[in-house]
Amino acid sequence: MPSPVRENYREDVAGRANVEDTPELLDYYNELEQLEVAALWTVANKIEPWQPKSASVPVLWRYRDLRDHVLRSLDLVTPEKAGRRVIYLNNPGRRDVAAAVGWLYSGLQVMRPGEVASAHAHSASALRFIMEGSGAYTNVDGHKMTLGANDFVLTPNGTWHEHGVACDGTPCIWQDGLDIPLVNTLEANFYAVHPDLQQSVGHPVDDVSAIWGNPGLRPATGSWSKGYSPLLKYEWAPTYAALQRLAKASDGSPFDGILMNYINPATGGPVMQTIGAAMQLLRPGERTKAHRHTGSFIYQVAKGRGHSIIDGKRFDWNERDIFCVPSWAWHEHANASAAEDACLFTFNDLPVMQALGLYREEAFGDNEGQQPVTA
Ligand SMILES: [Fe+2]
Ligand SMILES: [Fe+2]
Repeated sequence: MPSPVRENYREDVAGRANVEDTPELLDYYNELEQLEVAALWTVANKIEPWQPKSASVPVLWRYRDLRDHVLRSLDLVTPEKAGRRVIYLNNPGRRDVAAAVGWLYSGLQVMRPGEVASAHAHSASALRFIMEGSGAYTNVDGHKMTLGANDFVLTPNGTWHEHGVACDGTPCIWQDGLDIPLVNTLEANFYAVHPDLQQSVGHPVDDVSAIWGNPGLRPATGSWSKGYSPLLKYEWAPTYAALQRLAKASDGSPFDGILMNYINPATGGPVMQTIGAAMQLLRPGERTKAHRHTGSFIYQVAKGRGHSIIDGKRFDWNERDIFCVPSWAWHEHANASAAEDACLFTFNDLPVMQALGLYREEAFGDNEGQQPVTA
């Protein structure tokens, strides 16, 4: 029986593995295999690429294509049966780990008025970005927060949390973002359902905003030492106002326009240990220059319309569309309107990249910093 073709990633470059197969070597490899070992030089060029090679592909998920399907799940499954009623974003290159891009998971969750999901906790860090509807709320460790469109809320690693929609609200759709694929890869994921299925509200509603949501100010009493932001909720109105103020005072970034990171007010660092988030504003008619960096990014169009070019492919987006930029992919953004600004919400794994010393960034040098569009 012919032996299966054996992997051998050769490169004719000094310093790289380039060993020709011979009958003697193939016999040797077979003997090694019996002992659960292998010769590094056959795979070294594969496992140590010259630069990051993302398995993820750039994808744009159009909200107008997804919305009806998301709403349909209201009639098909209950939160009690489903746990969480979510349609998740399944990157064609990352289906094996249910990732939207890289090591990030994302999905669209829908709830109708009066529904509440069971309280639970997990090792994965999570966030929600509200897309539509009124009456949504989240309870994190007894802190209940009311939520409206473009509000962003954290449900950090290890916290008890539950989501619901008030009885006098409307069906709500939001984007979930988690680092489930990362935590699973690290083989560190735990999940627990709250023993009472629901937790009580232990503090005044929206108390985290009153305590931690005052720019440049923090209370004289109380301290915070956990690895995530105590603010938990970041509202749209002050975020948008801050971007507009910054746009009047700064030219911003050539790659991102006016971009502000959501931060932990106790440290100035990212909102959670593994997930960072930002909101950026593209001024009317603005077109950014291209760059690339390590780290995976998921964008949601919070306002406006425009396009992004990702590794030479153009993606036109409208409000509520979601798209991803894989690690080390070239990307640039453009606002299609000459009169209105456009805003992009993003979350990413930059805190991981930076904490591990793996962040690297590069500007696109040719063509005045803009990519030729090839697709
Ligand atoms: Fe959760
Ligand atoms: Fe970027």
